[in-house]
Amino acid sequence: MNIVELKETFIGLYGDDTQAIYKFFSPGRVNLIGEHTDYNGGYVFPCALSFGTYLLVRKNNSRRIRLATTNFDHRAEVNLDSPFEKEGKSWFNYPVGVLNELRNVAKEIEGVDLLYSGDIPNGAGLSSSASIEMVTAFAMNQIFGFGLDRWEMVKISQKAENVFVGVNCGIMDQFASGMGAKDHALFLNCDTLEFKKVPLVLEGMKIVIANTNKRRGLADSKYNERRAQCESAVEAIRTKKQIRYLSDLNLEEFNTLSHLITDEIERKRAKHVITENSRTLTAIEALNEGDIKTFGILMNQSHDSLKEDYEVTGKELDTLVDEARKIEGTLGSRMTGAGFGGCTVSIVKEHAVESFIAGVGKGYTDRTGLKADFYVAEIGDGSKEII
Ligand code: GLA
Repeated sequence: MNIVELKETFIGLYGDDTQAIYKFFSPGRVNLIGEHTDYNGGYVFPCALSFGTYLLVRKNNSRRIRLATTNFDHRAEVNLDSPFEKEGKSWFNYPVGVLNELRNVAKEIEGVDLLYSGDIPNGAGLSSSASIEMVTAFAMNQIFGFGLDRWEMVKISQKAENVFVGVNCGIMDQFASGMGAKDHALFLNCDTLEFKKVPLVLEGMKIVIANTNKRRGLADSKYNERRAQCESAVEAIRTKKQIRYLSDLNLEEFNTLSHLITDEIERKRAKHVITENSRTLTAIEALNEGDIKTFGILMNQSHDSLKEDYEVTGKELDTLVDEARKIEGTLGSRMTGAGFGGCTVSIVKEHAVESFIAGVGKGYTDRTGLKADFYVAEIGDGSKEII
């Protein structure tokens, strides 16, 4: 991202002024394993990417907040003396949702001009929305001295998405964007919110992200549906055993109690969550021991469970994964994020990355008629001010 050019764009939009322009960044994320477990009180293992959303901010001494982005030809304005309204499917619902949530926790915002710029593909399941939310919370906190800590900002951002935007997401994406650490993955227990930064030592290997470029139609409603199915499975288990989340059960307990979930689909959803938690724990142990081969096998199993039991993959993601597994030098490949389109993440031997991109790209186009994009991931830091 060229910050100098971005500053020029800012001045072009809002005019020159003596007030300082502050610059911030929050990353997107890729989740290595632990999918659809966060809202079930389970384990996740994401890392922050080096790409995400930049935000330039300047106070404007008025009661207006003006918003613009370099990603779309669309601008917006909200008035601090009126309630903030959600506007259809507008991109601005993410930042305005965060501003709204900050007001709800009694934080006094003043007029500012905002320019966003993302270098992360939109709607690709790499958490562009969480990066927009987190950069907004982080910037406002810094500029107005709210004194919020990172966890508070993460929770405000998640709430903005749940309540204002209307997607019942878990905490993983905002957490990864806010807490990311260069060259580390983050092992989070979504129940206790305890987390550990785990060094990502992948000698001679790369993390390759492949974008299906399939628009995730109806993804939000299907996501909310999965969440409701898990809650219903919890209710069924509660007729015999008091649990708060599906993740309160280990595999053995689940096998004993699963018959209580009489709806077959809900039983499959629950099975995914419980097996995914156990895969995630084993994968982190394997990584700590430098056993990337086992880590890769668990990634493969995670995808298969998301395909068969959670049913959130679809033809495009399955094709990318299938093609990836054909390449000599792929250790593991799976969908990442919510699913229904979006991206896969693979661990690939460094010498095979080129043939991976060529081979998977060709196979994918031949079979789907779509063109995939590939990124060799660099793992970066969480939300920060750019000085
Ligand atoms: C989306 C949500 C996350 C998480 C993942 C699936 O990215 O925002 O909270 O539930 O899907 O693991």
